[in-house]
Amino acid sequence: MNDALDPRPRPRSPRVALATSTEAWSLDEDAPLLTAALADVGLDARGVVWDDPDVDWSAFELVVIRSTWDYATRHREFIEWTERVQAVTDLRNPAAVIAWNTDKRYLADLADDGVAVTPTTFLTTPMPEAEVSERIAESVGSDRGIVVKPTVSAGSKDTARYASRAEDPHALGAAATHAASLLDRGRAVMVQPYLDSVDDDGADGGETGLVFLGGTFSHAFRKGPLLALGADPVTGLYAEETISAREPSDEQLAVAASVLDAARARTGFTELYARVDLLPGEDGSPVLLELELCEPSFFLTSSPGSAARAAEAIAAKVRR
Ligand SMILES: Nc1ncnc2c1ncn2[C@@H]1O[C@H](COP(=O)(O)OP(=O)(O)O)[C@@H](O)[C@H]1O
Ligand SMILES: [Mg+2]
Repeated sequence: MNDALDPRPRPRSPRVALATSTEAWSLDEDAPLLTAALADVGLDARGVVWDDPDVDWSAFELVVIRSTWDYATRHREFIEWTERVQAVTDLRNPAAVIAWNTDKRYLADLADDGVAVTPTTFLTTPMPEAEVSERIAESVGSDRGIVVKPTVSAGSKDTARYASRAEDPHALGAAATHAASLLDRGRAVMVQPYLDSVDDDGADGGETGLVFLGGTFSHAFRKGPLLALGADPVTGLYAEETISAREPSDEQLAVAASVLDAARARTGFTELYARVDLLPGEDGSPVLLELELCEPSFFLTSSPGSAARAAEAIAAKVRR
């Protein structure tokens, strides 16, 4: 019989949407590996553009947010989308987790919970540039480089590094101009000292990302420094990243576990996936730079077996 005319229902593999954005899907290096690993466990997964108005999200059994890298300047629209999707199907991570985690003010919550975080000052309302300058000077010592980023940001976008006031008398003014212009555009801003440890390419130096899948540690990587001195803030989709595999130390694993415990208590959810990005702090012990519960790259190419682990974690959510 002609297949197309066979009226009997055929078994269909469950459908998983990997939420992405128009520009990002072809750049998402995890996507081909993850899609193949999901097929291996019998799941039909496809990339679906989050802001495509024609998508019927209820047609998917599970929507996994993966490379929605263009939400930073459309935060409210993105949060509303998570709520809409969650109303008709299962969304991971859930909308409440996304709402909490997509504004880096969650760092203040985690600091309150006793987590060691990168020292951060938040500026949330527009103010004259001179006042911004004072606030930055109060929060970052004169011998420290200055980092300015929007609290809602991804891929280092609109993030910039400035020299210390001791090195360059114009640095503070330039940092204040950048911060004030973000504030004027309605974006909350965070100011941090530049942690020089990000440039340390020794065994434990630099940024370490720890990836957790299905609540369990999967793999870790080292990410090269991203902020060049004097460079303009990134305006494209994201800054190019240099990634290599890394074994995390027991101390890094312990800090990451405490970060996730605090996040789970805050949101009420155990996440399907998480990435904890750490830097060595002043005394060398790890401090949290970023907790990514929305659209972290997993860098699956850096760790054999990690795509299969990601697929298993996703499959466990589909077949409960
Ligand atoms: N305080 C800091 N000290 C040193 N490097 C930083 C600092 N803040 C950010 N960076 C650099 O900028 C990159 C992006 O910043 P991050 O806070 O991870 O935001 P996002 O990845 O969401 O854009 C980091 O991977 C790191 O290389
Ligand atoms: Mg980051």
